[in-house]
Amino acid sequence: MSNQPLIDYRPLFVGLDAHCPLLDGSSCDYTNLDNAASTPALKAVQHAVDDFLVYYSSVHRGTGFKSQLSTHAYEQARQITMEFVGANPADHTCIFGKNTTEAINKLARRLPLDGKRKVVLSTGMEHHSNDLPWRATTQVVYVHLTPDGRLDEDDFDSQLSRYAEQVALVALTGASNVTGFLNPIHRLAEKAHAAGAMFMVDCAQLAPHRKIGMLPLDDPAHLDFISISAHKMYAPFGTGALIGRKDVFEHGDPDMTGGGTVEIVTLDNVVWSEPPERDEAGSPNVVGAIAMAAAIRQLEAVGMSEVTRHEANLTRYALEKLTTIQGLRVYGDADPSNAENRLGVIPLQLESADHFLVAAILGYEFGIGVRSGCFCAHPYILHLLGLSKEEAS
Ligand SMILES: Cc1ncc(COP(=O)(O)O)c(C=O)c1O
Repeated sequence: MSNQPLIDYRPLFVGLDAHCPLLDGSSCDYTNLDNAASTPALKAVQHAVDDFLVYYSSVHRGTGFKSQLSTHAYEQARQITMEFVGANPADHTCIFGKNTTEAINKLARRLPLDGKRKVVLSTGMEHHSNDLPWRATTQVVYVHLTPDGRLDEDDFDSQLSRYAEQVALVALTGASNVTGFLNPIHRLAEKAHAAGAMFMVDCAQLAPHRKIGMLPLDDPAHLDFISISAHKMYAPFGTGALIGRKDVFEHGDPDMTGGGTVEIVTLDNVVWSEPPERDEAGSPNVVGAIAMAAAIRQLEAVGMSEVTRHEANLTRYALEKLTTIQGLRVYGDADPSNAENRLGVIPLQLESADHFLVAAILGYEFGIGVRSGCFCAHPYILHLLGLSKEEAS
């Protein structure tokens, strides 16, 4: 992958020329380095939403022209989202919701985890949104990590064989929101399937950065479920999606009931709709879906391999500069030559100053937005810092 050229993608985004007030009374251009949390909006998204709002109306049962058009646009957004991740309507359904957190909570409530297979095999590098929903519903076993924060695949293999027939699901992140480490999802999926388990990937971080291929269900390396968040994909209009095996959502009661989920209701009986409607209770976020589809179209126009290349150039540059600063420690992989094998999020600490103070100085004195703290991944941060539970509390 080449270093050059760096194409200027800044004109594609809304608000990158925004000014920001500084502590000394002056102002400067705002620099957002907090994209792993939420990305700025694409202009293509802004325009798609503006254009759509003219025709926006109620979806599904509305019979008027605008309702029909809105329903078409909403369902087309679903199709675009599925194609983006290599899902196919024969095997998969795409359930729109608020975000990844909602998607994983739904999956945790909808997966039948009460049979012989009750264990969810996860890792110590997960965002809380791919950890706490599983703790709330079943037994979670955590795969160990290497000292620098990568998944220990030998331990993955041994936990999988140790719990063998008890593992219902392997649930792990495609990419860490802290170190940017990528997991070898298709290789692990093959192992999970060989052990009779299903395989779920939290794609909140992966989707904006890498091409995802869910693959057909008869491919041993397929992904059974994935989750995405549009606010991390340049479309901050409150939408996300759970995309996964249609057969799972064809059965059971929805976790949230109400309008839109039913075929027929009598005073003593309910017939649920087919997926995805069964799991989309209430009036959907139509504008959010249109926004996400517009972002996907723009990402596809740029090309996911170009996104990867561009990001690797920026990450390499940032690591080259950061690793020359005395007293600054980069966690995870600090090697600039590995930039293309990870995401661009860089966790760092200055030995001489509290992380909160460093973040505040960057914000108030330099107009640079970063994030400090534990990044909704407390166990992972403890691991990276080499702290025990006792030392942390
Ligand atoms: C890896 C990962 N998983 C899940 C989430 C939760 O995403 P959301 O807040 O959109 O639900 C995040 C958000 O930072 C994340 O980085």
